[in-house]
Amino acid sequence: MKILHDPDEVHAACAQRKREGRRIGLVPTMGALHEGHLSLIRAARTQSDVVAVSLFVNPLQFGPNEDLAKYPRSFERDRQLLEAEKVDLLFAPSNDDMYPAGATTFVTVEGLSEKLCGRSRPGHFRGVTTVVAKLFHIVEPDLAFFGQKDAAQVAIIRRMVRDLNFPVRIMVCPIVREKDGLALSSRNAYLDPTQRKQALALNRALMRVQTMADTGERNAARLIEAGKQVIADETGVRLDYLEIVNPDTLDPVDDIARGALVAVAAYVGTTRLIDNVVLHGVGEAAGPT
Ligand code: PAJ
Repeated sequence: MKILHDPDEVHAACAQRKREGRRIGLVPTMGALHEGHLSLIRAARTQSDVVAVSLFVNPLQFGPNEDLAKYPRSFERDRQLLEAEKVDLLFAPSNDDMYPAGATTFVTVEGLSEKLCGRSRPGHFRGVTTVVAKLFHIVEPDLAFFGQKDAAQVAIIRRMVRDLNFPVRIMVCPIVREKDGLALSSRNAYLDPTQRKQALALNRALMRVQTMADTGERNAARLIEAGKQVIADETGVRLDYLEIVNPDTLDPVDDIARGALVAVAAYVGTTRLIDNVVLHGVGEAAGPT
């Protein structure tokens, strides 16, 4: 595996491979890798000739009172995992490599970026779209792989790609969970054993909504209320939002008959976790989420 830090070197290496007619798959990450990340890398492996992974804890997507300083960093372990997955190229830039002094250009997907997590994390999605746009320019991937775990991120990146004509196909992989339903997240490392149990309330709330929808409830307000109640019943968990939205526009829907995204974010202690489930429309075949 080639490890590069300098964007220009990465660009040259990727351009060379493209000239050779090889298809590049990019998996952007912030490291502290887990099976969720690895599932994206394995999907990239099956669909690309060259798998490039970026590992960069992007300061631009963290708010001033968020966990940038304590975000888990485990470069050596990550490197070994990526070697084992036979990743071809690891791009691990420094902050200065990505944001040279005086960098004042940003990419914002207006409207969508203020919804869901964007409401409680102002500037978060601007940080995500700016860094992902840069990664797309540096690597020029044919395919880029993202997790359904961050459903709003997927909608916003898809919109950016469409609006700015990025020649890349966005591939979305299902949420990888622990056996008991907890969605894998680098932030799960912050949880103590009690909080680890409390964190299951997020998935339980989504399952309650899913079950009600499966048994015929179509009214979004009633579904939201039932989901919120599950969170309220769990001590130690504080709801940020539970919303039922159109997965492309992130606008709330009143009726789930045509399918919808149920997204939840909650604090377990000081750790903010997110999860979601896609409800399929009435009469729609249930596919993988
Ligand atoms: P990070 O949180 O490291 O996640 C990297 C990718 O892994 C994202 O596409 C995310 O959706 C996916 N992922 C995380 N947990 C997952 C799970 N349990 N199952 C499936 N996929 C999962 O998301 C980011 O980094 C950043 O915002 C980034 C896109 C790299 C830009 O900085």
